[in-house]
Amino acid sequence: MSKRVLHDRYFKQAKTEGYVARSAYKLTEINQKKRIIRRRNRVLDLGCAPGAWLQVAQEAVGPQGSVVGLDLQRVRRDFGENIVTIEGDAEQYDPKELIAAGVSEPRLFDCVLSDMAPSTGGGAGGSGDHFLSIRLCDVVLNMVPHVLRPGGNLAMKVFEGEEYKPLLIATGRYFSKVKGFKPQASRDASREIYIVGHGFRNP
Ligand SMILES: C[S@@+](CC[C@H](N)C(=O)[O-])C[C@H]1O[C@@H](n2cnc3c(N)ncnc32)[C@H](O)[C@@H]1O
Repeated sequence: MSKRVLHDRYFKQAKTEGYVARSAYKLTEINQKKRIIRRRNRVLDLGCAPGAWLQVAQEAVGPQGSVVGLDLQRVRRDFGENIVTIEGDAEQYDPKELIAAGVSEPRLFDCVLSDMAPSTGGGAGGSGDHFLSIRLCDVVLNMVPHVLRPGGNLAMKVFEGEEYKPLLIATGRYFSKVKGFKPQASRDASREIYIVGHGFRNP
């Protein structure tokens, strides 16, 4: 990877501001523009490692909110009491365990985030990345009815390609409003875009 890519503006800003990765600015911008996370919310973050979105979500929900993160990889850092992280595969993980994580009584989430990406690269690659990322979005959409409260919100990453439009339509069946959004912090070469859904309704 070139020095230019490694040390871009967002990378430097993340170091200065104490975020574990530059991806923090993607969720910051999504939330500034789309208002998907509010104070006191309970948030599920799928594909949460190394933890920059956990940090941004924690700031957005405040001390009385909570965040549950799930990733194939262990999150090495402890972000504080109101963040629970779990090592596991979103495709196989029992949604009942997610809604029970970190609370005495199971509670649905107000917002589901997915920054999950296939391990093949950053999305600048070919159709392989695209189809793997569509598969991860299907995992999210299968999980949403079991974990998200009615009226709740979603942001999930996908690498654009021929299946993007059908995915947008499929997501629209679950939400009253759905739109694609590309944050400025997404690298120009990346085909990543975030599908943002407001107002979950179970079809
Ligand atoms: C781009 S990173 C997420 C960065 C994170 N949002 C942050 O800000 O620190 C994508 C993550 O998705 C995770 N991932 C990919 N497939 C997954 C799956 N099936 N279940 C859980 N996590 C998965 C990867 O392990 C990787 O850590």
